[in-house]
Amino acid sequence: MRSRLSGWCVLLAWTTACEAASVAREPFGTTSRGEAVSVYTLKNAHGVELRVTNYGGIILSLKVPDRNGRFDDVVLGYDSLADYLRSSPYFGAIIGRYGNRIAQGRFTLDGKTYTLAKNNGSNHLHGGLKGFDKVVWDAAPFKGADSVGLVFRYTSPGGEEGYPGTLQTTVTYTLTSRGELIFDYSATTDRATPVNLTQHSYFNLAGDGKGDILGHVVTLNADRFTPVDSTLIPTGELKSVAGTPFDFHKPTPIGARIDQDDVQLRYGPGYDHNFVLNKSGDARDPTFAARVYEPGSGRVMEIYTTEPGLQFYSGNFLDGTLHGKKGVIYRRRSGFAMETQHYPDSPNKPTFPSTTLRPGESYHSRTIYKFGVQS
Ligand code: GLA
Repeated sequence: MRSRLSGWCVLLAWTTACEAASVAREPFGTTSRGEAVSVYTLKNAHGVELRVTNYGGIILSLKVPDRNGRFDDVVLGYDSLADYLRSSPYFGAIIGRYGNRIAQGRFTLDGKTYTLAKNNGSNHLHGGLKGFDKVVWDAAPFKGADSVGLVFRYTSPGGEEGYPGTLQTTVTYTLTSRGELIFDYSATTDRATPVNLTQHSYFNLAGDGKGDILGHVVTLNADRFTPVDSTLIPTGELKSVAGTPFDFHKPTPIGARIDQDDVQLRYGPGYDHNFVLNKSGDARDPTFAARVYEPGSGRVMEIYTTEPGLQFYSGNFLDGTLHGKKGVIYRRRSGFAMETQHYPDSPNKPTFPSTTLRPGESYHSRTIYKFGVQS
């Protein structure tokens, strides 16, 4: 069954000035537990098209124009649900309860020690064996005056993946007529628990499958980053980027310094680090975090967030074994992720901004990816 919500546009004599924004739903298959999953196609008034499934809240495709108005899909992923169920490096998914790593899969909160799955060497990564990227979310489409979107809801039972407390989670995706994709995260709990929600889309602004991302030009609004040990757990230091390959104050191609002889880049291997975002003003307002420009297509993606950190991952673990949409082979560094977040391993790092959510509090976080072009 196909449901459709349509909007209105100004009709000119022989064409439409813009298309009607819309949300449409279609079946996308069934999980191994027999849960029916849908795919939602969202379109803004200028033809930007986002396809999302409620399995993991995964963004399947995102078509945005280049400087000549040509649309391409700019995210990595698969064609079918079966591919996502088989194995995915978190392509396009909501990440929770804890985006990024928790050392040794262990943390102590209010005097009690909790044990989590070690699903990344000796560490816990992205919520565990069955994180929020692998659950079926309730989804409700909506249409606003200049936007379309989806509200995802999931209740994570107490003890799920070892985390305490029942976590009521809502994640809203909004596609606006201004070329923004907005993520709003909120959560409440009935027992204190760590929460660090993020989104794990991999981008290639030249177009999915169009080679590596080393020519993409990155600017990061970060004076410092969190150096890591060889297992990618922060040492606890907030280190200045000055004079290092981590200084992206000036727009710099990803590939310009990625193979330099630097111990942090060796650990990556490449960029896989949390940047400490420079902040000013009201903490509730998203601030500028990053800008990525792809010179060939002219596409630009800007990131604004309320989060204190950003994990810039240059797709180092893609190794040519995954076959993506239309059979594309995902070789090393064929996509990058910009995961807005609190710093990795915060539950074990008292000096980092806290990720503890307590009963009676509400968790809120907002990130905006804004797409445009530069000539
Ligand atoms: C995050 C991590 C990376 C990697 C990817 C998924 O970005 O920081 O090290 O695990 O997820 O492959």
